[in-house]
Amino acid sequence: MDDPEMVERLGEGAYGYFAGGAGDEITLRDNEASWSRLALLPQVLVDVGARDLSVPLLGSDLPHPIIVAPMAYQKHVHDDGEAALARAAAATDSTFVLSSQTTTSPPDVAAAVPDARQWFQLYVFKDRQVSLDLVAQAREHGYQSLVITVDFPVAGWRERDMRSGFQVEHPLAINPGGEPLTTEELFAFHDPTLDWDDIAEFADTAGMPLLLKGILSPEDAQRAASAGAAGIVVSNHGGRQLDTVLSGADALPPIVDAVDGRIDLLVDGGIRRGWDVAKALALGADAVLVGRPLLWGLARDGQAGAEAVLRQLLDEFDSTLALLGCPRARDLDASYVTAAPWT
Ligand code: FNR
Ligand code: LAC
Repeated sequence: MDDPEMVERLGEGAYGYFAGGAGDEITLRDNEASWSRLALLPQVLVDVGARDLSVPLLGSDLPHPIIVAPMAYQKHVHDDGEAALARAAAATDSTFVLSSQTTTSPPDVAAAVPDARQWFQLYVFKDRQVSLDLVAQAREHGYQSLVITVDFPVAGWRERDMRSGFQVEHPLAINPGGEPLTTEELFAFHDPTLDWDDIAEFADTAGMPLLLKGILSPEDAQRAASAGAAGIVVSNHGGRQLDTVLSGADALPPIVDAVDGRIDLLVDGGIRRGWDVAKALALGADAVLVGRPLLWGLARDGQAGAEAVLRQLLDEFDSTLALLGCPRARDLDASYVTAAPWT
């Protein structure tokens, strides 16, 4: 269901780009539905007086498992764009992932919140030097992990954008002059020849832990581990790439079995509530990424709006831990979830 308030705020074209998915949007809808197909199974009479939301990831502890997903063109959501979302992340101790299709430069986002936990998401473009320069710049400005998105050799079949002709009107690394370009024109910069050999090279030269985002098959998860990735994001790109692929929630369990603890596992797509976060961890994820709800918060009220969304998610997650009888986030396991009878 389209949100009339957001259509009004963003305009039809931008709204369709941010909210929309590929094809018939079957996967887009299923992303949210998939978390509801899991029921929670609380344990009672456990001392939950003190809760610990922290989780281990990439060799250290995160204060909590909620990570801001990389999302493109945030100045089309709010004038303050990526800097505002990065500030909201820092204010809630959330890790922020900056898209390489950013409308605020990586140094400017780093400067907006010094010493924050920030990662850089890379698209490998046809002009390889643009991507290498972005990695070097991210390293220099203190970004702590590199996330290479691997589910975007070409753009998904996005009929909303085809109809609207939505154009990006801000300077980007791949369009420094900022002349208006359609998303179709911008996505033609992505390198469709990228393969596992390239990934091994990035893993060797990144100078920071490498995560691969956009993996759905257990075989690819194993290949990622062999290629030197420290972790993967089990993701269908928010339903925006290939329609009718599995949700992160459904793709995750066989991947957990296949990697057997060799690399860290993150998951995203349709996570809207604190109890969805708990389900993801119970299935074996180490952390989760959240996308669109933060854009809607950003659109409504800039940093404060996005911060309110993050705070509510964290409060819901904290209350879920108490009500589940699992006071430590890192102790969530399969015993707390079961298939829902109502699906
Ligand atoms: C994205 N996503 C994305 N991913 C990425 O690796 N680089 C990017 O630049 C973008 N851009 C982008 C733009 C918009 C408008 C959306 C909605 C999503 C995908 C994103 O990181 C994440 O995988 C999904 O958004 C997670 O699903 P939910 O939480 O939006 O359902
Ligand atoms: C998108 C890209 C840019 O999903 O990741 O629109």
